[in-house]
Amino acid sequence: MNQFANKTVVVTGGTDGIGRALVLHLLDLGAQVVTCGRSQQKILELEAESPIGKLCVLNVDVAVEKDCERLINHAVKMFGGIDVLINNAGISMRGLMEEGGKGIIPVIKKVMDINFFGAVHSTTFALPHLIHSRGVVVGISSIAGYRGLPGRSGYSASKFALQGWLESLKTELVDKGVHVMWVSPGFTASNIRNVALDQTGAAQGESPLDENQLMDASTCANIILNAIAKRKRTVVMTFQGKQTVFLNRFFPSLADMLVRKFFFKKGELVK
Ligand SMILES: NC(=O)c1ccc[n+]([C@@H]2O[C@H](COP(=O)([O-])OP(=O)(O)OC[C@H]3O[C@@H](n4cnc5c(N)ncnc54)[C@H](OP(=O)(O)O)[C@@H]3O)[C@@H](O)[C@H]2O)c1
Repeated sequence: MNQFANKTVVVTGGTDGIGRALVLHLLDLGAQVVTCGRSQQKILELEAESPIGKLCVLNVDVAVEKDCERLINHAVKMFGGIDVLINNAGISMRGLMEEGGKGIIPVIKKVMDINFFGAVHSTTFALPHLIHSRGVVVGISSIAGYRGLPGRSGYSASKFALQGWLESLKTELVDKGVHVMWVSPGFTASNIRNVALDQTGAAQGESPLDENQLMDASTCANIILNAIAKRKRTVVMTFQGKQTVFLNRFFPSLADMLVRKFFFKKGELVK
């Protein structure tokens, strides 16, 4: 019997990328899954591919507090409680502070609203149910939650905030039996860079990385589910990710240099 059979798992942002892979693996493992996204087309595509009665997909924007309340209430009404909440919904950005001027401020706010406040909203409403089930709260963070990345200042800020907030929550809940954890994928093939906001707030519409060279979303989802089953505290994925976190912790000036070299060519942000 696996850890997820007949458990109720809420995954935010489960209609694409890593979230979608999590949803499909969880269904294979016999879980009941409630998930969400904003695109109606992606919702219908996911529903078409899943067993009836085990999956519920809602049109929810995690940046909106009331939407998250509806998501959590729906999960409880349908399946009687919540065992695991995976705060996965997220967007990215690509723009330099110096070039963006004041136009970049709403971009950073939007990223914070989804990546950080989205997790705060969903977790707040799910908390009484997770305490009741002695369940698990997961944050899908990033290497950018350990190391600020150029051109992704708002994204890095949102992931640092997410980790700090989850660590506080973890400590608050020590006696309640709720396990709080965060996992940090390295670069993973998905739609995130395509829809990342540029410094004007428009989707950049392309990926600056070769997506074929990256970890696939299914492998990433498997690592996340293994970590949840083992109730790990944190996971940092990929060799490049582990190396970046290590270097940044012990040799931060060297990390500044190497990260700069990775993202810039001749003074221009190329990744
Ligand atoms: N891919 C990577 O390289 C990578 C690396 C490290 C961490 N991560 C993290 O992994 C998580 C998933 O990213 P991904 O790469 O799988 O991205 P993705 O392919 O773009 O998928 C994101 C999912 O979240 C949903 N979403 C976005 N904004 C939402 C909102 N406001 N409300 C509800 N749902 C929303 C999207 O659906 P709609 O757009 O239709 O709403 C989609 O289903 C994110 O937290 C990201 O920061 C990704």
